[in-house]
Amino acid sequence: MERENFGNRFGVLVAMAGSAIGLGNLWRFPYLVGSYGGAAFIFVYIFCVFLLCLPIFMSEVIVGRRSHANAYGAFKKLAPGTRWKWLGAISVITPIIVVSYYSVVGGWSVEYFLKACTLEFTGGMSRSEMGSMFGDFISSVWSPIVGHTIFLLLTAAIVISGVKSGIEKFGKIMMPVLFVLIILIAVRAATLPGAGEGLRYLFKPDFSKIDASVCSAALGQAFFSLSLGVGTILTYGSYVSRKENIAVSSTYTATADFLFAMLASCAIMPAVFAFGLNPQEGPGLVFETLPFIFSNMPLGWIVAILFFLALIVAALTSSISLYEVGVAYLVEEKHYSRRGASILVFLVAWVLGILCSLSFGPLSGFHIFGQTIFNLFDKLSANVLMPAGGLLLVVFVGWVMKKSDVIDEFTNGGTLKTNVRMSGFVYFLIRYVCPVAVLAVFASALIF
Ligand code: TRP
Repeated sequence: MERENFGNRFGVLVAMAGSAIGLGNLWRFPYLVGSYGGAAFIFVYIFCVFLLCLPIFMSEVIVGRRSHANAYGAFKKLAPGTRWKWLGAISVITPIIVVSYYSVVGGWSVEYFLKACTLEFTGGMSRSEMGSMFGDFISSVWSPIVGHTIFLLLTAAIVISGVKSGIEKFGKIMMPVLFVLIILIAVRAATLPGAGEGLRYLFKPDFSKIDASVCSAALGQAFFSLSLGVGTILTYGSYVSRKENIAVSSTYTATADFLFAMLASCAIMPAVFAFGLNPQEGPGLVFETLPFIFSNMPLGWIVAILFFLALIVAALTSSISLYEVGVAYLVEEKHYSRRGASILVFLVAWVLGILCSLSFGPLSGFHIFGQTIFNLFDKLSANVLMPAGGLLLVVFVGWVMKKSDVIDEFTNGGTLKTNVRMSGFVYFLIRYVCPVAVLAVFASALIF
């Protein structure tokens, strides 16, 4: 059967940017910026994205496009008969674990969007009321499961429609919408009285704040935000046609992801300062602090609807990329139909997601290695499986694949002159600098 490809460069960009831009940009990045001292964190983050994570990103695309196969098949094809197929296996299993809990948070976004539409975030509620609303909601049994089910069904529906007419088409419509939504919200936030303080916090670095913990948080976030180490960029890379320029598509994706994270921060930080809240609120930011702000600002109800809509869209374009990894594997290695594969992935992720969701309520006393199920999935994937997958991947590209093959892929057989000139530097980063850097995140994640 003929393998599908993305249609053109814009299609590749929206799919990859769609995977990268997600809850990590709208929720994790702003609260890390808040916790790690504002502009100084952003300064370090820029280095991490463009110098360290971009070469890893390109490596994943190179493996995908070179093999034109799913995450498992890729290693079987490029290193036949070796143990590298186990890396392929991890690259297929991790995204299924991630999508199951990502979908639970996606489901919270769906429920909060519905709350925003029924004007629940109006009338000046207090910060503690918002806190207990969120606490009651996630620990209840049914509504989070309903949200998770809706979110996962939406994901499945897009993936079933195929690479070109599902994933690419959805991205082409939704990614521009997402940028417009976040710009609208940022403009509203920047015009609140007292917003200037928040903007200063984002753009005026205090370099004395940079220390080891800032660096490892920035690198970890860059890794997470670019969706590295989980087989998703590899799988999308396998749908990139031989004509595309890998360096250009990857750089555009990283830039779009960074810009979006900055826009999200510009939408959130000024509002946090305008309401005299502490920027170091942490993970409760999106579902507690923001609804509090919405309920207390003029036109807040519209902003709330737009914001939670943006959150759903951003999360969906990421979850389809996770979902596709399992589907591509089942179709190509196990000869499932696309529909059959999508249904099987749905069932597995649905059941695992329900367990994650219940771990905030009835199953909160059930611990594995001292963690609730949700936290176990989150920590296991973000702290162990993702960095391990990323590390092994750059080692594979830098040390196992033939240098000439890597350069050939990077320069489209020597035809892209700029890439030819850059290839020595990029190869050096992939071979020496990136493995050491990823090892550092890995080690720091295990230590802290
Ligand atoms: N990059 C996504 C975000 O910023 C989250 C994420 C991490 C992800 N790893 C992934 C998404 C792998 C898809 C695939 O929200």
